[in-house]
Amino acid sequence: MPSTVLVGAQWGDEGKGKITDLISSDYDYVVRYQGGNNAGHTVIHGGKKLALHLMPSGIMYESCIPVIGNGVVVDPSVLVDEMAKLESQGFSCERLVISCDAHVIMPYHRDLDGANEKRLGNNKIGTTKRGIGPAYQDKAARIGIRIQDLLDEKIFREKLETALAIKNPELQFYGLEPYTVEQICEDYLAYADIIRPHMAETAQILNQALREGKNILFEGAQATLLDIDHGTYPFVTSSSCCAGGACTGTGVGPKAIDKIIGISKAYITRVGSGPFPTELFDEDGETLSEIGHEYGVTTGRKRRCGWFDAVIARYATDCNSLTDMALTKLDVLSAFDTIKVCVAYKADGKEYDYFPMQQSALYPGHVEPVYVELPGWKGEDITGCRTFEELPENARKYVEYLEQIIGVRISIIAVGPDRDQTIFRGWSSR
Ligand code: GDP
Ligand code: IMO
Ligand code: MG
Repeated sequence: MPSTVLVGAQWGDEGKGKITDLISSDYDYVVRYQGGNNAGHTVIHGGKKLALHLMPSGIMYESCIPVIGNGVVVDPSVLVDEMAKLESQGFSCERLVISCDAHVIMPYHRDLDGANEKRLGNNKIGTTKRGIGPAYQDKAARIGIRIQDLLDEKIFREKLETALAIKNPELQFYGLEPYTVEQICEDYLAYADIIRPHMAETAQILNQALREGKNILFEGAQATLLDIDHGTYPFVTSSSCCAGGACTGTGVGPKAIDKIIGISKAYITRVGSGPFPTELFDEDGETLSEIGHEYGVTTGRKRRCGWFDAVIARYATDCNSLTDMALTKLDVLSAFDTIKVCVAYKADGKEYDYFPMQQSALYPGHVEPVYVELPGWKGEDITGCRTFEELPENARKYVEYLEQIIGVRISIIAVGPDRDQTIFRGWSSR
């Protein structure tokens, strides 16, 4: 102890990578607990911009052990590439530990992800097509292949055969080529040779670390509203992104968690399909997109943009038991005369200050965000501010207003993508 969960409080891309990297040096372990290479976490370290997909953002610190937990789905081809890339940039991956219980993304998962999206047509989820959903689907169906299966060629072949007996007809249904055991074995057994030294019983390692008083940071990918249970289903990812996932995805019990920090942008974005009450289709939306460089790190897609949604922030606070919040990209709001905050929804004749029971209420034609409009600090460059007091008065008031309506302390404020463009306001990892 102590340990912290860092979790996205919106629809992803809140700046989790930056904040994880920023606080990592306080922790002995940084652990990914769910998701896979659908994540794209930007870290700017020593002037270098890195996009991490599978690797925990603590990889840059020699003092920190990066761990991929059992709740993650691992595409070994991506992992091997990411490791090679990091090594070539001077970051050693020797310390990386991978749970032997994590599930493996297979080539047919990627194929089926794409085929399923095509089948859905206009109703598509807008996935990253990295095979994430189909891999978790097989995990739940108990025909998944785990990292430890790569250790024993006989077991791997047997499990693959069982899986292919179900997957090949599915591929053929979509008009796709089936796979042979041989084809997959050739590649995957080669990956296994590279990954083998990193495989471990990570639950034991982490629990032992806690007993020894070590600090653990659990790094969430995706976010609260993309959580398979708590998100805007079916427009979600297939894993437990919320703080509770840190337990199931690592083998550490809930009593071991001390702090839970939610990451929110000072506005909100979403990639892919699904409801988005405060989405802007006007010039303000374009301004957020352009000034905030809102393009996906994994797929390059343009992110949908909207005003800060306090209904979502309160929901995320509850779903994750947030103790703190980090507010990122406050600098982007310097482009506006006034700034809107959604404090409630009006839908179908009712007003909601919490998530409505029926998701249909969140769609255009039903939902009307109730906005409070606050004065901005247009034209004032806040990217050089390093203390709360240095911020313009209206920026301080904006932050204080959010704190008041969400009910959580905003203890970190990011005013630019670089590490030092950050204001600490009472954050402590202990
Ligand atoms: P993640 O998936 O949550 O790690 O977030 P992404 O890396 O996908 O997207 C966040 C983007 O915002 C990245 O390009 C970051 O470099 C950038 N970023 C993070 N914090 C700030 C900030 O305070 N201001 C600005 N302008 N950019 C930021
Ligand atoms: P980070 O960790 C934003 C979205 C996809 C799609 C839905 C399902 O960088 O915040 P999937 O491929 O997971 O089955 O896609 O989830 N999505 C993300 N959106 N940031 C992410 O990760 C995302 N990972 C998945 O766009 O709508
Ligand atoms: Mg991202």
